Amino acid sequence: MSRRKIIAGNWKMNKTPSEAVALVDELKDLVVNDAVDVVYCVPAIDIVPVVERVKGTNVSVGAENMYFEESGAYTGEISAAMLVDAGVKYVIIGHSERRDYFKEDDELLNKKVKKAFEAGLTPILCCGESLQQREDGVTTEWIRSQIKADLDGITADQVKTLVIAYEPIWAIGTGKTATSDQAEEVCKDIRDYICELYDADTAEKVRIQYGGSMNAGNAKELLAKPNIDGGLIGGASLKADFGQIVNYDK
Ligand code: 13P
Repeated sequence: MSRRKIIAGNWKMNKTPSEAVALVDELKDLVVNDAVDVVYCVPAIDIVPVVERVKGTNVSVGAENMYFEESGAYTGEISAAMLVDAGVKYVIIGHSERRDYFKEDDELLNKKVKKAFEAGLTPILCCGESLQQREDGVTTEWIRSQIKADLDGITADQVKTLVIAYEPIWAIGTGKTATSDQAEEVCKDIRDYICELYDADTAEKVRIQYGGSMNAGNAKELLAKPNIDGGLIGGASLKADFGQIVNYDK
């Protein structure tokens, strides 16, 4: 099993362009680890200066969202081609904040996943259950339904390069991390489901991250689990702690 770990920061709606450049500079020497892929998913307006600033380093840049249409009258939206032209490699699709606050549903997210692949971007597809769903015992059923709908029409070869982020909604920004066993259980189920939908080789290759209050203190234990191939990190990606997460194996 040789999946490369992928540690991505999701900056959310934080950092002006000048603050973004300052953060990249602050983290520059801290996020060096040849054994992992490092990604900064940044606000749209920060993409151009951050791409410029990470040139020559091990860091790739991701977007936090995109629209599925090619171009045209979609005021305020950003296309996959714009992201590619700006030097973006990854794009977060279906974060729970976009599903919740911006009412993005699986039908829309499926179109975004398709467009991202078509444009040559790697989607970081988010899924996760609410606290109520966990308490009701429907976590895996819910996450399977999200994955099935979001990956409709996506080929095995595409899924082999996909990143899936399992982010329990109750663990996001709450300081309440899933235990490593809880996170592993769901990540393993996601992999089993990819095997059912596609095949064993595809399931072996897809990378599955955990996200939700991951920090310098808990990253090592979470990332030691066999089915957790990385992290999608919010709050802790905005400070020097991110360097410790990237170097969890040291
Ligand atoms: P926190 O790390 O702040 O809990 O955020 C997780 C997240 O939503 C990453 O996408």
